[in-house]
Order: sequence, then C-alpha cells, then structure tokens
Amino acid sequence: MKKLALCLSILFAACQSNKDQTKKTAQTDLTDKSDPHSYAIPSDAIVRHLDLELAVDFSSQILTGKAVWEIENVNATDSIVFDTRQLQIEKVILDAQKDAQFKLGKNDPYLGQALTIKIQPGTKKVAIWYKTMKESGALQWLNPQQTAGKKSPFLFTQSQAILARTWVPCQDSPAIRFNYNASVTVPKGMLALMSAENPTKSNPSGIYHFRQPNPIPAYLLALAVGDIEFKSIDSRTGVYAEPATLTKAAKEFSDMGKMVTAAESLYGPYLWNRFDVLVLPPSFPFGGMENPMLTFATPTIIAGDKSLVSVIAHELAHSWSGNLTTNATWNDFWLNEGFTTYFERRIVEAIYGREEAMMQEAIGFSALQATIKELGPKSEDTKLKGNFAGRDPDEGVTDIAYEKGYAFLKVLEQSIGRTAFDAFVTEYFQSHKFKSITTEDFVFYVQKNLLVKDPKLSNKIKMSEWLYESGLPANFIKPSSEKFKNIDSLLSVSKNKLPISLLKPKISSANEKLYLLSALPDSLDNKDMIRLDEAFQLTNSNNAEIQCAWYTHAIRHNYKPAKSAIESFLINVGRRKFLIPLYKELVKTEDGKEWARKIYNKARPNYHAVAYSTIDELLK
Ligand code: BES
Ligand code: ZN
Repeated sequence: MKKLALCLSILFAACQSNKDQTKKTAQTDLTDKSDPHSYAIPSDAIVRHLDLELAVDFSSQILTGKAVWEIENVNATDSIVFDTRQLQIEKVILDAQKDAQFKLGKNDPYLGQALTIKIQPGTKKVAIWYKTMKESGALQWLNPQQTAGKKSPFLFTQSQAILARTWVPCQDSPAIRFNYNASVTVPKGMLALMSAENPTKSNPSGIYHFRQPNPIPAYLLALAVGDIEFKSIDSRTGVYAEPATLTKAAKEFSDMGKMVTAAESLYGPYLWNRFDVLVLPPSFPFGGMENPMLTFATPTIIAGDKSLVSVIAHELAHSWSGNLTTNATWNDFWLNEGFTTYFERRIVEAIYGREEAMMQEAIGFSALQATIKELGPKSEDTKLKGNFAGRDPDEGVTDIAYEKGYAFLKVLEQSIGRTAFDAFVTEYFQSHKFKSITTEDFVFYVQKNLLVKDPKLSNKIKMSEWLYESGLPANFIKPSSEKFKNIDSLLSVSKNKLPISLLKPKISSANEKLYLLSALPDSLDNKDMIRLDEAFQLTNSNNAEIQCAWYTHAIRHNYKPAKSAIESFLINVGRRKFLIPLYKELVKTEDGKEWARKIYNKARPNYHAVAYSTIDELLK
C-alpha cells in the first residue's frame, strides 16, 4: 500500500513540476493577501466547509481523524494544497470515490509540509484520513496529576497562529474561512468541547457532535476534553471548568453577561450566539484565546477580586476584532490585537469605570515603552505592519501589536472625537464582517471614510508613520492616571531612598501595586525588598501579574524569601507571558542559570509546546 502511494506520488510530482511555475503568476494579483505562512493557493482551489471526525485516545496520545473538506475549485485546477505539520496522512478520497493521488512537500520547521492533492475541475469533496503524532504542536495532553482534580487526564488544543495544521490538515491561513461540523469520540465520562455550539453535560456514549455555523479561519479551530462541568452565568454566558475550579471561576467572571451587553452597545450585535469561557489547567500557555463561542482561559486570571477579568473583556472583544474582521496574514496581526486592546479597554471603562481603564492603559503604555527599548527603537519589529515571513509568526506576539496598535487607535479616536470614532469602528466591523483584511485594506478604508472628508486629519494622525515606521511616533498620547501620578511623584521626591511609608497608604489596588512594580528604581537593597514585601504582600499575592512582576525583581536582587514561591510558580504555571521574563531574568547570572535549569527539569513537562519551545531557546 505504501509502495503504491509512493509510486503515485512520484508520478504526480512529475506532472506537477510544470504547474508549479504557473502558480506564482496566478498568485500575483493577490500579492497583498498572499500569506507567507501557508502553502495553500486559495485563488486556485479553496476550502468552504469541514466535516471533521476525531477519536481521542489518551493512552497513545494520538488523535485519529477524518477531515472531509468541501472545496471550490476556483481555477478549475488539477490540485489543491493544504497545510500539514506533524501529521501522518493515511489516505485521501475525492467525492467519496477512489483513492486520490497526493504528495507531501519538503518539511519546514514552522510551516510543516504542503499536502498537494490531485483533483478534477469538478471535485467537490476531499476526504483526508490522518493521525496526529506525539509531538503535534497544538496539542497538550495532561496526565491526571497535571489537572486540578488529579483524577482524569485532559487534552486541549492551541491553534493560533499556525498550529491548526498540526491536528487538522487544513488551509491554515487567516484569510481562508469555512464552517465546520465535527463528531468527536472520547473516553466515556469525559466532556468534549469545541469552538462551536457546545453540550453542557457529559454524554454517557462519549460521542459529541458540534456545529460552528459562522465561517471561521483555521486558527480558531479548538478542542478540549476533560473532567469538565458547566455553570451558567446568564442566558447567553457561562463558565466551563474542572469541578474543583468551577465555583470560583463563575464568581470571578460573573460580569460576563454585562460585558457582552456593553460590547454590543459599543460596536454592534454579538453574532456568535453564546459567549462561554472554558478555564483550563494552569499549563495553558496564554492568558486567553478567543476560540469562537468558547474562549479558553488560564486559571491565573482568577485572582479572587476580579482584578484580572479584563482578559475576559479582551477575548470577548475578539468576537468582533479578529473573529469577525480578521487579519489576512500574521503580518497584519496588529489589526486583531490593537483593535481588541482598544475595545477591551472600552468594555472595562463601561463596566468598571474610567479610572480603572486609565490605569490599565497606563500600565500598557509602560509595557510598550519597555518593549520598544528592548527591541531597539529602530527595530523592524517595532513597526505595526510586521514582516514575519520566514520566521515563526509567534515572534510577532509582542506589545507592539497590542499596545502600539492601541496607541495608534487612541490617536485616531482623539483626533476625530469619540462619537465619530465609535461610529467609524461600528461601520468598520459591519462592512468587514466575516472578512479577512490586510493593513493596506485598513488604510484604504480610513482614507475613504475619514481622510477624504477631512483632509487635515492626515497630518494629525500620521497613519503611515504609525503603520510602517519603527518606534513611537511623536504624536502619541501619554495616558495619565491620577493615582499613578501620586506614585510617580512620591518615587521622584526621594530618589535614593524608597519612601515606603509614604507609598503604603496610597497604594491598595492590584493596578497600583503593578504600576509601582513597573516604576521601581533599578537599585534596591535587601532591606527595600523586605519592606516592599511586608507593605504590599507581594510574594504571597493571589494576583499572577503581581507575582510575575515581583518575582522578576526578586530574581534580579537575589531576594531569598521569594525563592520557593518562584520555583512553584514556574512549575505550576505555563503561561508564556510570565515564563519568558522570569527565565530571561534567571539566565542573566551563572547561579541563576543553574537554578533555572534545575527548575526547568521539573517544569518543562507541564508546559505546552508553544511555551517550552521558547524557553528551550532561552536556556540553550
Ligand atoms: N489571541 C491571543 C493569543 C495568541 C496570540 C495566541 C497569538 C497565539 C498567537 C489572545 O487574544 C491574547 O491576546 N491573549 C493575551 C491576553 C490579553 C489580555 C493581552 C494573553 O494571553 O496574555
Ligand atoms: Zn488578543
């Protein structure tokens, strides 16, 4: 059987070599939209719908799948190209007929292999039988010890940016959308959930059916399986979590319904029916992931006082910016994240007030300044329009997309006024719903809808400088929070000595503590550290953002009382945003490096591939 496939593919490869040369030209009319991170050639043949069947086997840690793609052979071509990585392709059938010829291309470390399938001009369906591998990058298989309940294993996926292809052969470009239905078989007693309409109870048969009625790009495909229960918040929101986490998660996220309503009154109707959140085990590598109808979230945002629920507002905002109006390539990532950061803060402002939103904005701005300093103000990677061709698009997940994107939209908002800006954003989502757009499409839209009506605006906003130049343009608006100004002035009065007794009565909220931690002077002695810890209860904080910021100082200043807390944080938490700064701080000294390696030995098995591949690099 294998031999036959090999012969067919050699034959097929020979027929293809001519065709390959024409592909490039066929693509040139789509240059703006062509995606450097996908092998697919959508202008030739594109997917429209997916019927997915999956069997989940925890003992072998393998998914067995059949992906039936409904396709449109746009160019009446003789082949369709899919993205795959770390997949074993078993057979391909066209329109439920006979075996089709297929070949797998050269393996690229990030992009994986193109799967080219021979089709006919009239081909409507392509069915691919496959298996994932142990190392399939989107999947994290947790043993019972790595869950809250310690009884049941757990599986979850993380597809963004280009990992969907490691568990489903697909056209893995954010410019290509499809609807999907899925049937998933899991061990009896476990609940399966997807980025789709979901069950609320486990089903004794272990077979689950899903439907995602809206067209989505592949990076929004998601699956989770575990000992999971559901608790409703209101008629269209609710929380899924392991039983041990469910009650406190539902309490922390009790404002979800209000958030959806606030978001709708800002920028138009919520088009995804339900908004539920799944709280994952702590190894989840992100704060949140905007999987449609089912946001995935880290348990590290459950601080007990709602101080980190802006992450939920953020993922909800993606239901418009990202899931409705999508970046066409990962070079346009700021369109997803900059808009979402702006929208997130508007939701926070509507529910928790202006001061809260201002503080978050100011903390974001300090992070942006630090990132520009770290990357260098002339770095190409400080441009909003990114260039990640030939690299892992994950390298674009920095404060540039989020906070420089935010800062640019803030300039636009202030230049035309909030009312006009809100009308603009509403119309932007309305006219681009279920579309993927590039930065250039956005520029065109701004020109057509704002600049032609007000020619002076162009000079005020300096759009091309924001999008295409490095660093921070001079017309940025520095956010100011009254509460933070107090902290600044206290810190600047007594430069040499930390005025802890003066700071203490002024600082109570998590935001203020975080701001203080971002503004501390470089030189702190052990006494300062002890007094800071005593005054603000930092080592034992319940707030993971505070823990991360404080532990970074603790490592830098060799503050021993925090050592065991740091170690257990690194072992238990897999959120990449926290791991990177902590390990980076650790590797600055020889002793630190040695300690980091010791911790990493225990911690690495708890991390998802997107986290450990970054940390492997740091500790090399
Ligand atoms: N979509 C992102 C997460 C992401 C981006 C995963 C790129 C993989 C590649 C998500 O919406 C996000 O931005 N999460 C943030 C939270 C946020 C409040 C800034 C995170 O995980 O920290
Ligand atoms: Zn986001």
